[in-house]
Amino acid sequence: MCTHIVKGKINSSAIKIGNISKLLDNKTISGNSFIITDDNLAVLYKDFLYDKNVIVVNHGDKNKNLSTMDMIYDKLLKAGADRKSFILGFGGGMVTDIAGFAASTYMRGVRFGFIPTSLLAMVDASIGGKNGVNHHRFKNIIGNINQPDFVIIDPVFLKTLPEEEYINGMAEAIKHLLIADESGFNNYYANIKSFLNKTGNEISSFLCSQTKIKVDIVNNDEKETGERKKLNFGHTFGHAIEKLSGIKHGFAVSIGMIIAAKISGKMGYLSSNEIQIIENTLMKTGLPVSYNLPAHKILETITKDKKKSGDDIDFIALEKIGKAVIVPIKIKDLKKLFIEIN
Ligand code: GLY
Repeated sequence: MCTHIVKGKINSSAIKIGNISKLLDNKTISGNSFIITDDNLAVLYKDFLYDKNVIVVNHGDKNKNLSTMDMIYDKLLKAGADRKSFILGFGGGMVTDIAGFAASTYMRGVRFGFIPTSLLAMVDASIGGKNGVNHHRFKNIIGNINQPDFVIIDPVFLKTLPEEEYINGMAEAIKHLLIADESGFNNYYANIKSFLNKTGNEISSFLCSQTKIKVDIVNNDEKETGERKKLNFGHTFGHAIEKLSGIKHGFAVSIGMIIAAKISGKMGYLSSNEIQIIENTLMKTGLPVSYNLPAHKILETITKDKKKSGDDIDFIALEKIGKAVIVPIKIKDLKKLFIEIN
């Protein structure tokens, strides 16, 4: 077993990696507790969910919105949930984001915890207290930062995760290595095949080191005023590509990371050899590194998204593999760099 503590300003969160039957106290999910999950998991894990108060949401990011929240509040009210109720988010990042937001707002906030079931939620989305929903074209624009009491991560749930979803989550894991863990990256690069075996022996220690990277960053900067921005590596271009093409988040972030690596090269940080190593790593993982979208469309989407925060952007570059740096830059200068690498 492995445990890390997120020390939030208001609440602390115990991140535990291990066997769920040993880590989850059954009292937490009985009586006055409500489990929020999605329609896919409700079928896959009907035995685990049997006999519990379960609220089922439709899966997928397109349902991470206020209409789904409305449905959750209705069900909580009808079932008599009160201030002492506990909410457990059981699912991928969409479920943990929405369950955390429901718990943070229902009756001005009730206690909550997460059991993430996807790799992306295990290494990233369930940790750090970001809860919320999308609004129209804006992702995660409504929400808060509030830490769950616990996050229990059991690799057993990866068994039912489709291969494509596992690779999708691996993009965020590679991002962690690139921004903060050079030796972890070298180990991954040398043993990619074994890391791609989601039921292999390495997975528990991988989840332990991955979650530590995220926890350390959040503990330094819970509210994302500085260091936490590094977690956005690959996301400036990645979000635009995700929005334009509709591909999975991790796949878009993979393309965004290779763009950001090439721009880091233009900024005088990464060597062409390092960029090649990053590209090989993503490709060998099964992640995309190229895109079939006009450069002007990508730039237009980035500009539209950034209108709300002026003409500057905190671009996350790599100083070297394992070390990210925050570079404040004018959007017009970033555009020039992007055009140069195309
Ligand atoms: N997923 C990025 C963050 O938690 O800050």
